[in-house]
Amino acid sequence: MARCCCYRCGRCHTVLICVCCPCIFLAMLFASAGFFVYMKMEAVFSADDLETIHFIAPGTIRNKSFASLPATFWDLNPHWDAYWNQLQLPIDRYFSPILHPQNKKDGFGNSILYESLLKQSFFEYGDLANMGKTFDKMPQQIQDFVSHMDKRDYPILIQPDGVCGAGSKDEKEPPLLLLAIKTTEGNFKNRQAIRQTWGKVGWVAGQNGSSSGGYIHRVFLLGKESGDELGVDLSELLEQEANIYGDILQWDFKDKFFNLTLKDVHFWSWFSGFCGQTRFIFKGDDDVFVNTPKLITYLQDQLKNPQAHKTMMDFMVGDVIVAAIPSRMDTSKYYIPESFYKGLYPAYAGGGGVVYSGLLCKRLHNIAKRVHLFPIDDVYVGMCMIRLNAHPVHHPAFLTFDFPENGANELCSYHTALLVHKRSPNKLVELWSEMKKTQTQCWNVPLRE
Ligand SMILES: *[C@@H]1O[C@H](CO)[C@@H](O)[C@H](O)[C@H]1NC(C)=O
Ligand SMILES: *[C@@H]1O[C@H](CO)[C@@H](O)[C@H](O)[C@H]1NC(C)=O
Ligand SMILES: *[C@@H]1O[C@H](CO)[C@@H](O)[C@H](O)[C@H]1NC(C)=O
Repeated sequence: MARCCCYRCGRCHTVLICVCCPCIFLAMLFASAGFFVYMKMEAVFSADDLETIHFIAPGTIRNKSFASLPATFWDLNPHWDAYWNQLQLPIDRYFSPILHPQNKKDGFGNSILYESLLKQSFFEYGDLANMGKTFDKMPQQIQDFVSHMDKRDYPILIQPDGVCGAGSKDEKEPPLLLLAIKTTEGNFKNRQAIRQTWGKVGWVAGQNGSSSGGYIHRVFLLGKESGDELGVDLSELLEQEANIYGDILQWDFKDKFFNLTLKDVHFWSWFSGFCGQTRFIFKGDDDVFVNTPKLITYLQDQLKNPQAHKTMMDFMVGDVIVAAIPSRMDTSKYYIPESFYKGLYPAYAGGGGVVYSGLLCKRLHNIAKRVHLFPIDDVYVGMCMIRLNAHPVHHPAFLTFDFPENGANELCSYHTALLVHKRSPNKLVELWSEMKKTQTQCWNVPLRE
């Protein structure tokens, strides 16, 4: 080693040995660390491995050409030609703690600043006229999305009656859980089944009738369906339904798949204004089964954690999907062209059903003001989460892709789950009465692990 040092430095002095050797050691250390990181990244991102990590975004198949990773993480501007990346990059850079340490501190939670940054990025990079052919080549639903991307404050058409959605009268404490369910005008049957089964409001006891429990509130989230497309105008029926149940929250935007993200940002805003004390939110689809008593117990347990006042700041649990690749198949419902977004999706909890804390909801409401809308709602929540430096937690009892083979057939199987997708309204009613019947036999089966 010493000889080698002398040779490299040209002269043989003990001083030089002391200077050169550490350099070489350092160089070797860096090289091996670099190699290690590279191997790690390969391990995480190689498409072949994605399935073993967890899951590939719906609609994608294993195909390396779908992945469009930045080649190096120090590449400042890997995806300049994708519309969303181009709009978002200057804003993320503005808040980069390395590039602009002061901005992060000064700008934190400043919604006027956030809004002006969004506006400015549209002004500088979002001119659709300049996109010309790229825009014309995008599929219709992306075009509809892109051309309304700057508008995110649609008026409320129907409001729930109670404080923070429908609840029971004379509640003695703030709600433990608000059920916020995405639905559409036409899905009356789904809403009715939910009201009769897992979505009942009022006091709900924990799993084994223990004294711990909590108050549940409920709200359905809707946009507007066009009477022409539906063949019938349901708005009057919806008004009546709202009068009877008081759990309808509707906004004045088209209820389209690519507008689901609007339900999130509008819901966060409404929640922040009306639900101050609510501990948790379940947000999910109207075709899922939820094991509400077990969920209550699970959430009570989270609150018992001595660190709860801290963990609640970031608390989100569900079926977490890691390193998903955007679908590049133009026949898929989830199709996102490369001209719109490049890169992997951040970790996100599947939108079929996810639970998060009221505290996190308010932080999401805030941060969303500096994250451009993205057409896929659960991915968008993931995009907001990484910008909060918060990470959704995976729980195997959230079966957003149903039970593994035949798993549903055992006596107690539904007692092991917190959520199962997807179930018809009739099936929900049937399952709920089954749950009641098997309650005594199955009360102590643990959740899936
Ligand atoms: C991957 O997808 C691209 C684009 O759809 C296609 O041209 C290519 O043949 C696919 N490759 C494999 C291995 O399936
Ligand atoms: C409820 O179940 C838990 C275990 O899941 C048990 O520790 C607890 O004692 C039970 N409570 C009652 C009242 O039976
Ligand atoms: C979302 O709603 C707005 C307002 O109704 C509408 O103009 C737009 O086309 C909708 N977006 C999509 C992707 O359909």
